[in-house]
Amino acid sequence: MLKFLETIPATDPLAKPEQRQIIDQILEENKDIPGGLMVILNELQNRIGFISLAMQQYVSHKMRIPTSTVHGVVSFYSFFTTTPRGRHTVKFCMGTACYVGGVPQLIEKAKQTLGVDPGQTTPDGNVTIELCRCVGACSQAPVVVVDEEVHGRVRPNKFPQILRAVLDQGKQTSEQQA
Ligand code: FES
Repeated sequence: MLKFLETIPATDPLAKPEQRQIIDQILEENKDIPGGLMVILNELQNRIGFISLAMQQYVSHKMRIPTSTVHGVVSFYSFFTTTPRGRHTVKFCMGTACYVGGVPQLIEKAKQTLGVDPGQTTPDGNVTIELCRCVGACSQAPVVVVDEEVHGRVRPNKFPQILRAVLDQGKQTSEQQA
């Protein structure tokens, strides 16, 4: 038994037998192929939903590579997350045009409204806010991507409406699930 596995929280996928089996299978199938790290991380993100710090340590141990290498890849690509994403994702483009065009003010607004920082999810699991790289719609800066929908020329006074639509959708989803 690896030492760190004894201390992981019960909520970590590594502590859950079915998820642990999936993780082991992904590692077994890909750890020795060229470019295996990227394949493994993609599979983990897709099938488990996120890559916890303990999972990163586990991958590094199994692949015999430094944890910092695994962590570096996970933090570089915004597709990877270290905690589960919420039902909705609001991404702020941090490309130059959007940054200069006012994205920092929109992020501030989102932080105040939702009470979480980029990279975090609201406690009800409804919304995750994230930063992303240029999405190729620079002429419409500043750009915010809600789920897969690109919103361009988002002015601070228009932004609360966008957020409210996301929050209302979340409310409807939880009511349907109740
Ligand atoms: S800089 Fe934001 S879309 Fe290109």
